[in-house]
Amino acid sequence: MNFSNKLISWYQLHKRDLPWRHTSDPYFIWLSEIILQQTRVNQGLPYYLRFVEAFPSVQDLAAAPQEDVLKLWQGLGYYSRARNLHTAAVQVVDNGDTFPNNYKELLKLKGIGDYTAAAIASFAYNEPVAVVDGNVYRVLSRIFGISTPINSTDGIKEFKKLAQELIDPKHPASHNQAIMEFGAMQCVPKNPDCNICPFQKDCVAFQDERITELPVKIKK
Ligand code: ADE
Repeated sequence: MNFSNKLISWYQLHKRDLPWRHTSDPYFIWLSEIILQQTRVNQGLPYYLRFVEAFPSVQDLAAAPQEDVLKLWQGLGYYSRARNLHTAAVQVVDNGDTFPNNYKELLKLKGIGDYTAAAIASFAYNEPVAVVDGNVYRVLSRIFGISTPINSTDGIKEFKKLAQELIDPKHPASHNQAIMEFGAMQCVPKNPDCNICPFQKDCVAFQDERITELPVKIKK
């Protein structure tokens, strides 16, 4: 079995039941991804549910006063995320109510960077673009035994290239959900339980006893 098939098989068995995994609506996916940046799932989940309830469409979000959006965001921190979210909703409405439907166009929205564009493009439209977040860095650095610092220019390039090569063009959405979930639930930062890991035999870091050393991050 190749990397992606193995990962997706693990995901089918172990995935958490999360509301944004039951939709392919790019607006809801976008909301969830912005809320989940720098925020844990348990903390972000009630916010996601309140946002969906208060602003069921991108038009509702765009029409709301910014202070209402910020009020609903209260407690999550990094308020620029909420301001950008609102600005981008206005951008979408001004653009004739058309939500961007591909990676390149998504990048043009305020507050949407490489990670968020890849997440929306793959989850909503099954576009085969790899997501690279902290989970992905950890999983790939360990399984492939890569010690290039994840916050160096070389590292960012190397991991993005590898992540892109591994994605299964038939299942971009499941592949991307799976690799992030695998990092969040199995290949965790501290004391991962490698004895129940389906990649134990493939994992370079496990074979070389370098799990605690990877990923490498340089102090700047
Ligand atoms: N964190 C960021 N995106 C996520 C997602 N789609 N599911 C679970 N956790 C996440």
